[in-house]
Amino acid sequence: MTEQTATAVAPSNIAFVKYWGKADAALNTPAAGSLSMTLRDLLTTTTVAFDDGLEGDVLILNGAAAPPKALDKARPLLDIVRQQAGISSPARIDSANSFPTGAGLASSASGLAALALAASTAAGLRPSREWLSALARRGSGSASRSLFGGFVEWLPGGQRADGLDSHAVQVAPEDHWDLRMLVVVVRSEAKSTSSTAGMARTAVTSPYFRSFIDTVPADLRTCRRAIAERDFEALTEVVESSALKMHASMMTSSPALLYWKPETLRVMETVYALRAEGAPVAFTIDAGPNVKVLLPPAADADGFDDIRARFASLDGVRDVLATGPGPGAWVVEPGSPQ
Ligand code: DP6
Repeated sequence: MTEQTATAVAPSNIAFVKYWGKADAALNTPAAGSLSMTLRDLLTTTTVAFDDGLEGDVLILNGAAAPPKALDKARPLLDIVRQQAGISSPARIDSANSFPTGAGLASSASGLAALALAASTAAGLRPSREWLSALARRGSGSASRSLFGGFVEWLPGGQRADGLDSHAVQVAPEDHWDLRMLVVVVRSEAKSTSSTAGMARTAVTSPYFRSFIDTVPADLRTCRRAIAERDFEALTEVVESSALKMHASMMTSSPALLYWKPETLRVMETVYALRAEGAPVAFTIDAGPNVKVLLPPAADADGFDDIRARFASLDGVRDVLATGPGPGAWVVEPGSPQ
């Protein structure tokens, strides 16, 4: 019996310019580019062991055997690694999140990025970051961005039949702009419609889907410039607009995809109220009811604790987590602390 094993840590990320829609479902390439910030404190640690003694692939999530369905996102990625490395052994995947499980926070970006890096390393591959990013993309599109730190753009590709030109690149490193983010948790249940199913429905049924996709190239340009110039006002405009356009296309799908709850609007209105009072803050929302609030670096905005407390005191808010830009996925060397 032989066993090849490796452990990797990957961060989650938050999109400033949203990905919602695919060009090719089999390759999992996107209908447009997207741009995100890698999050320092929301991490997944994953160990992969290719083991001849196993009867099939096994997935353990936060200490418990995951349902077979959860393996569906991981298997295409494992198969590519096995094919590339010339091995046929089943894999045991043991994965755990640093952030509270059941906090309604997406873990597919960090989970699939950690899996891509751990599986490739365990199999003895030493690929480029771009290849790893394209590999992670096969499991979950947003995971392609978690291989890089700081501010990251996922290129749609579309020229290569194998999809290898659809990978992420770093736009600016994590120390370029010390933005802060508050994750305002209002619900902890897993969302009822997955991103993959929701995107497919939106693309086919929403009259606004194309309009949203058509605005992405200009939003990417604005966002890149806002980051390069550390222009929080310009960032606010593009981040909120991208999230609202994505949600407008979701809401106008049939049947409608309405991810917001009353508490979601309460948090958004608090962002507007803070801004009217002169505090620079911006919101963004993914495919769920929780709101992520962006703030400029500490030196530019006083009263961080007050702002955090204001969100925490809102009716229906369960938790407020603070984070900021961090590094991309890394391998944990055997015997070293994480
Ligand atoms: C709303 O990466 O979860 O968070 O590729 O189908 O697995 P699949 O989708 P996923 O979608 C994330 C969508 C989003 C916006 C974003 O992160 O850009």
